[in-house]
Amino acid sequence: MDWGMKNRLSRIIKPEDGRAVMLAVDHGYFLGPTSGLEEPRKTIAPLLPHADSIMLTRGVLRTSVDPAANVPVVLRVSGGTSILKELSNEDITVSIEDAIRLNVSAMALSIFVGSEFEKQTLVSLTKLVDEGERHGIPVLAVTAVGKDMARDVRYLGLACRIAAELGAHIVKTYHCDDFDKLVESCPIPVIIAGGKKTPELEALELTFNAVRGGAVGVDMGRNIFQSDSPTGMIRAVRAIVHDKATVKQAYDIYQGSKSGKARKAG
Ligand code: R5P
Repeated sequence: MDWGMKNRLSRIIKPEDGRAVMLAVDHGYFLGPTSGLEEPRKTIAPLLPHADSIMLTRGVLRTSVDPAANVPVVLRVSGGTSILKELSNEDITVSIEDAIRLNVSAMALSIFVGSEFEKQTLVSLTKLVDEGERHGIPVLAVTAVGKDMARDVRYLGLACRIAAELGAHIVKTYHCDDFDKLVESCPIPVIIAGGKKTPELEALELTFNAVRGGAVGVDMGRNIFQSDSPTGMIRAVRAIVHDKATVKQAYDIYQGSKSGKARKAG
């Protein structure tokens, strides 16, 4: 692995502890103005100081993130479909030149293993890896789960292993029972998505269990920006991922941030 690739990876997975807190705000690429992200700039700005990196599209990056913020960027480079159509019908949507121009630390693309357009998305992954290798930019494969797919270790393990075999540098998936077996059979770092909004305590338990099971961290979106205290939640998640906090300690951080807000308002 060359110097540029290693340097970029170290901006995402912190070398101090081998862990990562990514803030995922790319949902609009197929969901449009989803709840909590109606005005991306307003959502993103207060969360940036607590994120190791941010995952988003080039449109939101250009319009809604200060270039001086100096946050490592994981650029979503796949898409081309919407919630109204077959989601697996994705292609690469950003040229490597633009990714370089935007000074990204990694490129992210979804693979839809088992879905109608499985082959198209897997071949796109290999093309992106080839471009990334040429320019020293790591590729994050997102194991997108089709409507009919079970989110179990058999299926997610299959998708993660395929991503690794095809050359991805990091893979993002969902937490599941026997998650440690998935991590053992995947030779690249595994990061977990948060999934749909759940009560804060559950999202923190998910984070704790994922890290305990071998995930390098989270790429979390809705459970942060749809929380009643997004800053409290990202700080709580961060405490688990980087500071070995228990679920209770992390939940106290979230609760504390909520009561601080209430005091200020009162
Ligand atoms: C999904 O298509 C996106 O890649 C999201 O970034 C990913 O699902 C993580 O966000 P969340 O924690 O909301 O699931």
